[in-house]
Amino acid sequence: MSKPLDVTFTLAEIEARAGQGLADAVCVVFDVLRATSSIVTALANGATGVWPVADIAAALALRRRQPEVLLAGERDGVCIRAAVSGGVDFDLGNSPREFTPERVRGRTVVMTTTNGTRALRACAGAGRVLVGAFLNLGALARTLEQWRPPRLLLVGSGTQNEAAFEDALAAGALGEALQGLYPAEQISDGALMARELYRRYAGDLAGALALSRNGRRLLAVPELRDDVAFCARRDLYPVVPVLTGEVVRAQGTG
Ligand code: MLT
Repeated sequence: MSKPLDVTFTLAEIEARAGQGLADAVCVVFDVLRATSSIVTALANGATGVWPVADIAAALALRRRQPEVLLAGERDGVCIRAAVSGGVDFDLGNSPREFTPERVRGRTVVMTTTNGTRALRACAGAGRVLVGAFLNLGALARTLEQWRPPRLLLVGSGTQNEAAFEDALAAGALGEALQGLYPAEQISDGALMARELYRRYAGDLAGALALSRNGRRLLAVPELRDDVAFCARRDLYPVVPVLTGEVVRAQGTG
């Protein structure tokens, strides 16, 4: 029996938990570098919804049914081009800085990324699914303080099959913000690890993200390096993205 506040760190872990049932849980999914930071930014900048799909074929099938959607995502960190998709250039990559009001306002964005969109889909059977990043951490904490979920699972999407430092850090930051709701005896060791990690690095989130495998990968690519500092910004957007059916929408926008 898991503790009321728990954290998972890898895709395999959340897929296994989903198999055991998540119907009584609220899940918050983090892929700080960068899928969930991009989803938060897209919704904050006026996208009507972000439709996470597990693979390129599913994204292309949706575009055939609904030609007006924007296609977004990455493979190996870069925008999906025709050579990779089998003929279609995606409109956007997975850099949150691309999801500007000019590009996304009023549009539905279909997104496929290596881990983040898969973790989101794995949580689809949960009672409620929220999308988290440092960019919207305060808004998430305020919402969860109102909801007071008896079971809260903070989901790190990880990288390939491994844990990701930055997702553990963000889960720890949310755990820290919700200390009043989940006292020590109600948190798992995973939640304790994440919170202690966050406490260690809270004073320099951008520096902490730069230590991570994903941070180092992005910093090495000139056009992506600024994503690291961007994704480390706290509380830039007051948006609370909720998976509603198949699509992530900003809470309150239907
Ligand atoms: C993912 O979903 O695996 C990541 O967001 C990858 C990336 O940084 O583009």
